[in-house]
Amino acid sequence: MIVLENLTVRFGGLVALDAISAGFAAPVSGIIGPNGAGKTTTMNVISGFLSPAAGQVLVDGTDLLTLPPHRRTRWGLRRSFQREQIADDLTVWENLLAITDNLRLGRREARAEAEQAMEFAGVAVIRDKAGAALNTFERRLTDLARCVAGGPKLIMLDEPAGGLSPEETGRLGDLILRIGEVSGARVLVIDHDVDLIQRICAQTLVLDFGRRIAFGPTAEVLDDPAVKAAYLGVDHA
Ligand SMILES: Nc1ncnc2c1ncn2[C@@H]1O[C@H](COP(=O)(O)OP(=O)(O)OP(=O)(O)O)[C@@H](O)[C@H]1O
Ligand SMILES: [Mg+2]
Repeated sequence: MIVLENLTVRFGGLVALDAISAGFAAPVSGIIGPNGAGKTTTMNVISGFLSPAAGQVLVDGTDLLTLPPHRRTRWGLRRSFQREQIADDLTVWENLLAITDNLRLGRREARAEAEQAMEFAGVAVIRDKAGAALNTFERRLTDLARCVAGGPKLIMLDEPAGGLSPEETGRLGDLILRIGEVSGARVLVIDHDVDLIQRICAQTLVLDFGRRIAFGPTAEVLDDPAVKAAYLGVDHA
């Protein structure tokens, strides 16, 4: 269970998150909302980029906000960003090792973890390709491999389907659904592709201007008039 309790973030006078509470029990859960709603801010708090003015994050009873960011990684937190964090001058394999070599595993175990993650994401065939030479989908898959490597407990994906074709989005969705089975990790997904969210997320939190406007089973949430209103006339680029 991922529990957000009363999370509040302010940037000067702007309330980016206004006392957000939600308990995600599903293997894959979603966070949606219009641009500027507070979705990435929520992930920034969970990962330790930002300290909230108030609130708590509990994952299976662990109080994540008391752990410094590097300990959160060792604990099993992984995330992807709206812009992938792939080093251009490293190969796919080296990009994987950059994660697993920092987990205090033995060298052999680190390599085995990196290998398994590459296989899972289907990037083993391009292991020697440099980051700079990867296309958008290959970058996204490499990013996903980085997230599943080394025994994650919680993986957060920030707009993983952004810029992908429907076919690529379908394949990415299939992989995300298999994360729990291969790693045991729970997944939180932000995306503007509501069809993807509907397909892969059992529960969804909807934010708008830093406020929770809906939370619950995804189908119910998407049917909520407040959610439909928040999306009306909004550019989801
Ligand atoms: N470091 C920061 N300093 C000041 N304001 C910020 C900062 N980070 C985010 N904000 C503001 O907080 C609000 C929420 O931003 P956030 O990035 O969480 O939105 P989002 O839901 O991820 O939107 P998008 O769909 O565009 O990625 C926005 O008004 C944004 O401008
Ligand atoms: Mg964002």
